[in-house]
Amino acid sequence: MAGRGVGLLTGLPLRAQTRTRIRCPAFIRLSCAGTVAADLRREEQPSGSVETGSKDKTPKKTFSEVQNERREQAQRTVLIHCQNKVSERKFLKYLSQHGRIHSHFFYESFGFYAVVEFCQKDSVDSLLKRTQTPAHGTEAAIPFRSRFLSLKLRSPPSQGSEQPQVLLNNQLPPSNRKLSELLCAAESIDDQLNTLLKEFQLTEENTRLRYLTSSLIEDIAAAYFPDCRVKPFGSSVNTFGKLGCDLDMFLDLDETKKLDIQKNKGNFLIEFQVKNVASERIATQKILSVIGECLDHFGPGCVSVQKILHARCPLVRFSHQASGFQCDLTTNNRIAMKSSELLYIYGSLDARVRALVCSVRCWARAHSLTSSIPGAWITNFSLTVMVIFFLQRRSPPILPTLDTLMTLADEEDECVIEGNNCTFIRDLNKIKPLENTESLEVLLKEFFEYFGNFAFNKNSINIRQGREQNKPDSSPLHIQNPFETSLNISKNVNQSQLQRFVELARESAWVLQQEEAAAPCPPSKQPWGLAALLLPSIAQNKKVQKKLPSERIKSLLESVKNNIARSATHT
Ligand code: GTP
Ligand code: MG
Repeated sequence: MAGRGVGLLTGLPLRAQTRTRIRCPAFIRLSCAGTVAADLRREEQPSGSVETGSKDKTPKKTFSEVQNERREQAQRTVLIHCQNKVSERKFLKYLSQHGRIHSHFFYESFGFYAVVEFCQKDSVDSLLKRTQTPAHGTEAAIPFRSRFLSLKLRSPPSQGSEQPQVLLNNQLPPSNRKLSELLCAAESIDDQLNTLLKEFQLTEENTRLRYLTSSLIEDIAAAYFPDCRVKPFGSSVNTFGKLGCDLDMFLDLDETKKLDIQKNKGNFLIEFQVKNVASERIATQKILSVIGECLDHFGPGCVSVQKILHARCPLVRFSHQASGFQCDLTTNNRIAMKSSELLYIYGSLDARVRALVCSVRCWARAHSLTSSIPGAWITNFSLTVMVIFFLQRRSPPILPTLDTLMTLADEEDECVIEGNNCTFIRDLNKIKPLENTESLEVLLKEFFEYFGNFAFNKNSINIRQGREQNKPDSSPLHIQNPFETSLNISKNVNQSQLQRFVELARESAWVLQQEEAAAPCPPSKQPWGLAALLLPSIAQNKKVQKKLPSERIKSLLESVKNNIARSATHT
């Protein structure tokens, strides 16, 4: 598989490719050369996702293949808090007594950590056997054993002695300043969108850390439910994650049930004695309540545990200090898992999808249209569905409708969850590429124009059919839940937030239209193109523009459109 920068380019139209420079992939530390280096270079794609365009012939992995591979990899991995920076060579030599190390990296987050992946799971078991519970000091330690360890030096380095140089892997998104420099130095708006994606997308290491954190939480939950699985979902795995995004996890207890079915053959049926409660919801609340307590009392590095059990979808929220992730743990949430798989398919079908979603998400964040605090704001999930819908509406379309994906499904793809048909084709290789070659620049501008003029007052967004439908209720923004079709995923959005979205979309379309008319010759130090829509200095510029009455912007947009229509009829 091609490196990240190259992969991004392969699916782009020629015009964008010729104007876009290829950047070096981010630095990766490897413990053993040769096979591991080659593997990692191949795996440099985030989330095990496929960064190919429609023309790429490389077989693409299914969502569950990626999940299973990553889970198995996480089980061979330990997380080690190092009190001091250590000599990398000595550290690896010490750990190698337990078996060959496949790869490792160091990072900093409220301390200094190492992620070490062994070639075999047995090596982890061997290491754990040699690991001891800390001796009691003034505080008492709860003797909980996990794969999150601490490394102490028996003879700490003397004061003033030089700390060993260790290369740290970056887990953070770029600063505004760096981003500004990169975007301003880009050669085209297409280049800017690709640069933004490259800087913000989850790195290979960050993805590993997400699966490792889920695996550590699974070990804790397994104390109660030995065959359970804790699976990451949402933007950590759906190809749309950005560095710094939360880690959504799903405690899957159905794996236990699947094993039970295999056991019960023959005439006798033996069942476990269990306690019954009045509903699934109560069962979910009880399970999460106990797991929440467990995380709070015993979970190494799990802090600020909140049990939010009365939400529509009950959850336990906590911070995992060592990874720096804000975590949400749910159970009985299979539809959200299926939505993640669907988004994974859309994100992997065409290289432009992720670049466009990333820019729209960053744009929305820069203008406070989205927020990490729950409220009347549009969510990233809704924005992603809006981009998918927009790409289904292009002519020719860039993405197929969910109904089309359902038609392509085989028998083994069939899936019904709580009475909702969640069937769609899961093998990406069987989906025929579509022939649209529009550039990212055109798509971004048209996205803003499309939603700047969308009839939100009467129409609903529906990716199942890929066309607008009459709104079934009076919510300001109606985006049909792809699987629970009677639900609106943006029910929380109020009229004033929708209005802000529409105005900003119109203004952004207008800014990009001006860029095109003025034809700046990049690279430039002045924010231009995407930078003019994203950076704080732009928010100030925007204030100047905001003084323009919105009617004026509308009429400007109208005149621009008329000009385009007139020139189109003349050609
Ligand atoms: P960020 O965390 O903001 O990066 O994006 P995200 O896609 O992970 O969103 P979020 O953490 O809010 O939700 C996690 C996942 O839950 C989403 O990807 C969806 O699969 C699912 N989800 C979120 N909101 C809704 C909703 O309103 N309806 C449904 N059906 N699923 C949702
Ligand atoms: Mg999330």
